[in-house]
Amino acid sequence: MPQLILSLSIARSLIVSSQAARFDHEYDVVVVGSGCSGLTTALVAAKKGLRVLVLEKTDFLGGTTAFSGGGVWIPHNKHQEQIGVQDSRQEAERYMHEVLGTCPKMVDWMEQYTAVKFKPVPLPDYHPSKPGASVGRTLLTEAFDGRKLGSRVKEIRYPIRGYSAFGSMQADPADLPILTAPFSSFRNLAFGSKKIARYLLDLVRYGKGTELANGNALVGRLFYSALEAGVDFWRNSAPKSTTEGGSVESLMVSRDGGPPVRVRALRGVVLASGGLGRSHVAEKFVPHEWTAVPRGNVGDGILLAEAAGAHLPPPNEQNAIFAPMSLLHRSDGTVWRYPHFSIDRSKPGSLIVSRDGKRFANESSPYQEFVKTMHAKHIKRAFFIGDSVFLRKYGMGMALPWPYPIGSLLRHGYLIQGRTIRELARKMEVDETTLENTVSHFNRQALAGKDDDFHRGENIYDRFYGDERVWPNTSLAACAKAPFYALPLVPGNVSITWGVETNKDAQVVRADGSPISGLYAVGCDQNTVMKGAYPGGGSSIGPGMTFGFRAAEHLVAVVTTKTE
Ligand SMILES: Cc1cc2nc3c(=O)[nH]c(=O)nc-3n(C[C@H](O)[C@H](O)[C@H](O)COP(=O)(O)OP(=O)(O)OC[C@H]3O[C@@H](n4cnc5c(N)ncnc54)[C@H](O)[C@@H]3O)c2cc1C
Ligand SMILES: *[C@@H]1O[C@H](CO)[C@@H](O)[C@H](O)[C@H]1NC(C)=O
Ligand SMILES: *[C@@H]1O[C@H](CO)[C@@H](O)[C@H](O)[C@H]1NC(C)=O
Ligand SMILES: *[C@@H]1O[C@H](CO)[C@@H](O)[C@H](O)[C@H]1NC(C)=O
Repeated sequence: MPQLILSLSIARSLIVSSQAARFDHEYDVVVVGSGCSGLTTALVAAKKGLRVLVLEKTDFLGGTTAFSGGGVWIPHNKHQEQIGVQDSRQEAERYMHEVLGTCPKMVDWMEQYTAVKFKPVPLPDYHPSKPGASVGRTLLTEAFDGRKLGSRVKEIRYPIRGYSAFGSMQADPADLPILTAPFSSFRNLAFGSKKIARYLLDLVRYGKGTELANGNALVGRLFYSALEAGVDFWRNSAPKSTTEGGSVESLMVSRDGGPPVRVRALRGVVLASGGLGRSHVAEKFVPHEWTAVPRGNVGDGILLAEAAGAHLPPPNEQNAIFAPMSLLHRSDGTVWRYPHFSIDRSKPGSLIVSRDGKRFANESSPYQEFVKTMHAKHIKRAFFIGDSVFLRKYGMGMALPWPYPIGSLLRHGYLIQGRTIRELARKMEVDETTLENTVSHFNRQALAGKDDDFHRGENIYDRFYGDERVWPNTSLAACAKAPFYALPLVPGNVSITWGVETNKDAQVVRADGSPISGLYAVGCDQNTVMKGAYPGGGSSIGPGMTFGFRAAEHLVAVVTTKTE
């Protein structure tokens, strides 16, 4: 009997080694894509002892995640207590039916074992009047000192233009009030000067700013910990197919321009390529024109999954995360896109009109709702209007607050300037009298502190993004001090959230619900658990990381018949 076992195991090891010879590289897990969801799977799996390879198609790591606010929607998280919010699991479940029990577990695990650190913000959910809505479910990532990555900090995708200053100087949201009022106190001036000095030094040493904030900080922290845990990263590399020989364990990978190499993924392949964002497929089921998703996200993961038998569920009520966007058309033909989430759009002293010169929505409403209104009213172009006080104080898109110069933005036609509202209207090609009436009516309401037309400033969400220094209504102020500015806005999207169907462990499933062994999809490659709703800030990265975590746990637990 012992002899039989021995010979069996010899036979098996022979099979394994002859199979191994067919591969150029062997890993337990291959992750396709380096955004929040892929990096989370890679990091967790590696920390738990698996050999992990991350493939990234482009030159930069981080995908849409690097562009993002790095907000993570985690109901029932422990940080809520820090800001005095009691959130119960029942409340969270009432707010959203899917059980996201892993969310807080993922956060706790990350904070205990890795460099990923979050911090609370007292941001209300996006539908604060709905039953079960709460405050503080959105977490932000702690800023990260990119110098810890040494020269590898350069591998992280740059933030969106206008979300950083002078090219790549990033700022933590908590520091914005100080940075946007540099001359209001000695402390502010010292803080700002120190930051600029550090930035200049970084440029010399690393070729870019190394104080990472928001989504860049999230990617930086995940990348740093993944490297520490031994994850391998191949940039400019993408799988050509997963179905070699009818099995998803084998991948042909084009690596950095060289000939394809054969990679074995013993336990599984995790699709995390960021979804359909820039693909033409997306145009078929969603209505509009502009996206802020990086160019590489064209649905590769979804195509690979389909080839392996995945099921694409029917489209959701909403298939994208929407945000109004301003566009800078550059002389080389490229277009810089700036999504207006809430920072400027909901501040007092501004209003938004459509081409008929009239307001059409509560300007402070969440980005998803705001663009849904644009769609419903067939508004393809709107104008965000502010006066000189507004621009100096809060900035308008890529036009950062004073003292940042705006001359080149005016020359590019990104920002329109008028000495009077009538002149502004003329340049906007909007009826002058209508716009004048709209603004003076708006100003009367602002001074009275009540927006009877669109109820701006009514709920806690509006007020969170208002300005507490403004009286009588923190969401409303007159737009009265010349010169005036207008910024054209289009309805845009920042992610496509329609993807392949998975089970609760992120395993890709067939139409009959059975899992495809060894194939996982996370982030935007996976159909949204929110089914198109957008309950609060971070509703994409939160589930992306949570399912990334679940996929890793499943991969660790899976019994491979192929291992020694
Ligand atoms: C400006 C902005 C702000 C946002 N803010 C937030 C926020 O605060 N909270 C939130 O929840 N959501 C936010 N979002 C949305 C969120 O960033 C994305 O939905 C999320 O980051 C997607 O993560 P992911 O891991 O699925 O993909 P991504 O982060 O897009 O990563 C996918 C990666 O896969 C790579 N890839 C593509 N094809 C291949 C291939 N064939 N082989 C190898 N690699 C491939 C891509 O190049 C990319 O690097 C924001 C979006 C934008 C644009
Ligand atoms: C997102 O924008 C892109 C173009 O930039 C467009 O092709 C796509 O249809 C848009 N998708 C959604 C969901 O709005
Ligand atoms: C915005 O306006 C709507 C009505 O137009 C109002 O119900 C709502 O409370 C306001 N705020 C938000 C965040 O929608
Ligand atoms: C601000 O205006 C909204 C309506 O636009 C109103 O509901 C709210 O009570 C106002 N807030 C204050 C403090 O007056």
